[in-house]
Amino acid sequence: MPRSKIAGIGMYVPKNIFTNNDLTKYMETSDAWIQERTGIKERRYADRTEETTTTMGVEAATIAIERAGITAQDVDFIIFATLSPDYYFPGCGVLLQRAMKMKEIGALDIRNQCSGFVYAISVADQFIKTGMYKNILVVGSEKHSFGLDFSTRGRNVSVIFGDGAGAVILQPTENTNQGILSTHLHSDGEAAEILAMYNPGTHANHWANKNYATFPEAEIGEMFMSHEMIDNAENFPYMDGPSVFKKAIVKFPEVIMEALQTNGLQTSDINMLIPHQANLRISQFVQQKLGLSDNQVHNNIQKYGNTTAASVPIALCEAWEEGKIKEGDLVCLAAFGSGFTWASALLKW
Ligand code: UT7
Repeated sequence: MPRSKIAGIGMYVPKNIFTNNDLTKYMETSDAWIQERTGIKERRYADRTEETTTTMGVEAATIAIERAGITAQDVDFIIFATLSPDYYFPGCGVLLQRAMKMKEIGALDIRNQCSGFVYAISVADQFIKTGMYKNILVVGSEKHSFGLDFSTRGRNVSVIFGDGAGAVILQPTENTNQGILSTHLHSDGEAAEILAMYNPGTHANHWANKNYATFPEAEIGEMFMSHEMIDNAENFPYMDGPSVFKKAIVKFPEVIMEALQTNGLQTSDINMLIPHQANLRISQFVQQKLGLSDNQVHNNIQKYGNTTAASVPIALCEAWEEGKIKEGDLVCLAAFGSGFTWASALLKW
């Protein structure tokens, strides 16, 4: 059975830089608070009208395709991970297929938030190993800036997130010293609501206590998204940050160790850990817990904030472009986020 290798990688971040000080114009916060709690100094925001989650994905994909030495016509499957799609439906995969004039290939959208890219890599890996596809495009892209609460009410969430995209081309390889060794996927829906965007959605929480006499005439036009929901900020992401933090610092090391143990390897064997860029303090905690040195971990949340499904491919691409990842290196990707879902992938570059 062949393994899957990353044959090309690309990233894209919008030009528009938003510093912590820029945010103080909209909400009560400070550069000192944001840096101390998250490590973030600045993030990028997409152009409001010109750039979407799909267009940023196309930019990253174009670079990955070129670096893989193929054309968009050679791609035989698309996997697109995002929580901020252009449309509620259809997903971004088909929009990218259209924009890049690809063949009538399959396009799959993945909704696993911060661990979306690692989940997507795992799915792509299975298709490559079975021989079904030869050139899979995996994209992680987010335009968070379109849907954050920039008032003081939403500051615990809005200061963290940024926009951007990353992409890879996965191909089969018969080289036994290269490619994905294993992937590990997990979930625990017990705390699904502590990091979530509730609306628009079909859950019954909002309507359960309304006791409407007639359905659906009662509030036609408000069934999906009511004015009350907007007044309650239910159209913005909600996060119980401290609870997420506590779970993340347990699950990150656990899923990394699971990947190493599966392959009979140790933390000292890791050349580069690419953790999802959730919060620099989480990455530092994980690094310390696993006893990794600074040159075994790549962080760039300082410049881009948390870009959710895009954060792992952006950090991976940047580390590779900076020459921090070389052929034969053992690379570990790990992510944790909303769901909760968490995942890791271990690969030889
Ligand atoms: O990638 C998806 C997964 N997400 C994560 O992994 C995020 C994990 N959680 C975190 O990174 C942290 O919990 C946060 C960075 C979100 C928040 O940091 P924290 O140290 O846990 O702060 P907190 O939520 O406990 O809030 C502490 C105080 C509160 O004020 P009081 O109640 O003590 O007076 C907040 O209102 O900080 C206040 N606060 C802020 N102050 C200034 C919250 N956000 C801000 C802000 N600026 N942006």
